[in-house]
Amino acid sequence: MSKLIDSYNRSIDYLRLSVTDRCNLRCVYCMPAEGIPLMDFHDILRYEELLRIATIAARHGITKLRITGGEPLVRKGIAEFIKELARLPGVEDLSLTTNGVLLKEFASSLKKAGLTRVNVSLDSLRPERFNKITRGDFLNNVLEGLEEAEMAGLNPVKINCVVIKEFNDDEILDFAELTKKKPYHIRFIEYMPFEAGAAWDRDKCISSSQIMEKINSLQNLVPLVNLEKRTGPARRYKFHDAIGEIGFISPVSDHFCGSCNRLRLTADGKLRTCLFSDDEIDIKNVMRGGCTDRELEDLLFNAVRKKPERHHISDNIFKKCSRTMSFIGG
Ligand code: GTP
Ligand code: 5AD
Ligand code: SF4
Repeated sequence: MSKLIDSYNRSIDYLRLSVTDRCNLRCVYCMPAEGIPLMDFHDILRYEELLRIATIAARHGITKLRITGGEPLVRKGIAEFIKELARLPGVEDLSLTTNGVLLKEFASSLKKAGLTRVNVSLDSLRPERFNKITRGDFLNNVLEGLEEAEMAGLNPVKINCVVIKEFNDDEILDFAELTKKKPYHIRFIEYMPFEAGAAWDRDKCISSSQIMEKINSLQNLVPLVNLEKRTGPARRYKFHDAIGEIGFISPVSDHFCGSCNRLRLTADGKLRTCLFSDDEIDIKNVMRGGCTDRELEDLLFNAVRKKPERHHISDNIFKKCSRTMSFIGG
């Protein structure tokens, strides 16, 4: 079967499926306190529709699937859905990005369903600050969820920490030290511009090199092999005496678009070829209009062909995207 390759010769083998726009948190950089208007239930893709798209994508070289949200664990029947995805021929890596609030409850059933691994968003290890960032009092639930994920054998357990100046940058070393006690992969993410939530400005951004400098002042980071040939957006390091890893995701200071292998599907059934491009391709209405598998395939191939070369965050003319992270799923 032919593979999905874009106009810049990038091979697209990673599909991110957002399964809901709902979330049980209200992170300040993602949503206003009152939340954002929710989509009508009918507008959200049904599991069988998601499965149909994933099946066709897997026939054409998608080997990695990631479930995102909103918060994917708030959608009913998620473990059963994952079980279906895990059965698809060709899918080698099946992962989920979650805020961790419900992870303790779900970790073991997700593993049994065939989930390979989880990425958990966690920006503060201090209860009061966690509450301030997420507007929810759930730090303990997340920490217990991380433990449970490790025990269930979801591997690796990655932690995403978005670093914002004068907000949580004084916790960088605490997160880094955590890798000495726990096998987690901590990833420091540069704060990216999106609509909604707190107003983004360049001054609130801390670059990966600044974060790295701070960590190196505590102890030298050892680069992990294949730093240049990275398989994901993170540049990976570790302390020589740690059991976990430290990664840097630098979409603002050093974009990784040249090696981007991703395609996204929003909860309301739009294909998004770049996190930052609002040029979406409707797949839901085409599907609901009764299209054939062949037509769906053509749609996927056309979308991939239109994938932009790169994002433009670092350019002065950069326009923030009109959708929030909770629609796109990161
Ligand atoms: P793996 O490397 O497969 O574990 O996943 P990931 O890091 O791509 O996924 P995750 O959902 O944990 O995302 C981590 C951060 O990387 C989030 O802030 C994402 O928005 C960001 N990110 C993921 N993919 C892209 C991308 O294609 N472009 C940009 N600019 N940022 C991305
Ligand atoms: N900049 C960087 N990362 C973000 N995330 C959400 N909003 C932003 C932003 N503005 C992260 C979350 C989650 C991942 C999917 O995206 O923390 O881990
Ligand atoms: Fe929910 Fe994730 Fe947005 Fe936080 S960043 S409000 S956890 S969707």
